Amino acid sequence: MNYLIKDILSKQQLEKAFAFFKMIFIGMPVVDNPEYSFEKWEERMKNHGDLMLYASLDSEVIGIVFGRINNNHSITIGPVAVHENYSRIGIAKEMILLLEERAKHYGIHSISLGAVESAERFYSKLGYKGSLLIQSQIHSIEQLLSLNNKYKVEFTNIYDGKVSQVCLELTEPDRDLQKEYEAVFPGCYTQMMYCKNIGITS
Ligand SMILES: CC(C)(COP(=O)(O)OP(=O)(O)OC[C@H]1O[C@@H](n2cnc3c(N)ncnc32)[C@H](O)[C@@H]1OP(=O)(O)O)[C@@H](O)C(=O)NCCC(=O)NCCS
Repeated sequence: MNYLIKDILSKQQLEKAFAFFKMIFIGMPVVDNPEYSFEKWEERMKNHGDLMLYASLDSEVIGIVFGRINNNHSITIGPVAVHENYSRIGIAKEMILLLEERAKHYGIHSISLGAVESAERFYSKLGYKGSLLIQSQIHSIEQLLSLNNKYKVEFTNIYDGKVSQVCLELTEPDRDLQKEYEAVFPGCYTQMMYCKNIGITS
């Protein structure tokens, strides 16, 4: 298949890729996440358009992988999507591997992302290591920690001054634990996160 992987370097390219993002994730909360707004990506494109990739076939966007630098040493990937007509032929993998290579040149040590359930195996296949993020605006870190007696705590954090976060080290998803958290602490939200440490080229 003669698709091309390209960087997002112009507003026109971003508009097409962003329209694809909205089409794929229509009705999902991620579309309303301020971190995923057109304006934010336009700002990021100015310095790091080479971390925002899309796959193009006959001038149509058929896939996207957007990365953003969080701080000096890490990148968050997302959104990631490939049109279903072109799935399972290696397009997302090729874009993520390219993004990893680019990230190394920025001195980035690690790449992380939050996965939807249906994509968890895809990230494992690419060598990303899983952990479970539990978040709540109405429960304390101590409350969230109280339900776990099985897994090592990777970190705890208060995000944005108001969201309690507990991250547990578990390589494989534990659906029973996720269900238990959501039942015992109504309003809390659990999601598998994936992370990969990447080497640095000088
Ligand atoms: C998940 C998604 C991005 C994968 O894209 P893709 O281009 O089909 O993936 P690739 O063809 O590059 O797959 C790479 C490898 O992962 C495997 N894989 C891909 N999707 C998979 C899945 N859902 N479950 C298990 N394995 C999967 C492929 O079989 C392939 O394995 P191989 O290297 O052994 O051949 C795509 O299915 C998608 O856009 N889904 C809808 C949007 C979405 O959920 N995005 C992720 C948000 S976190």
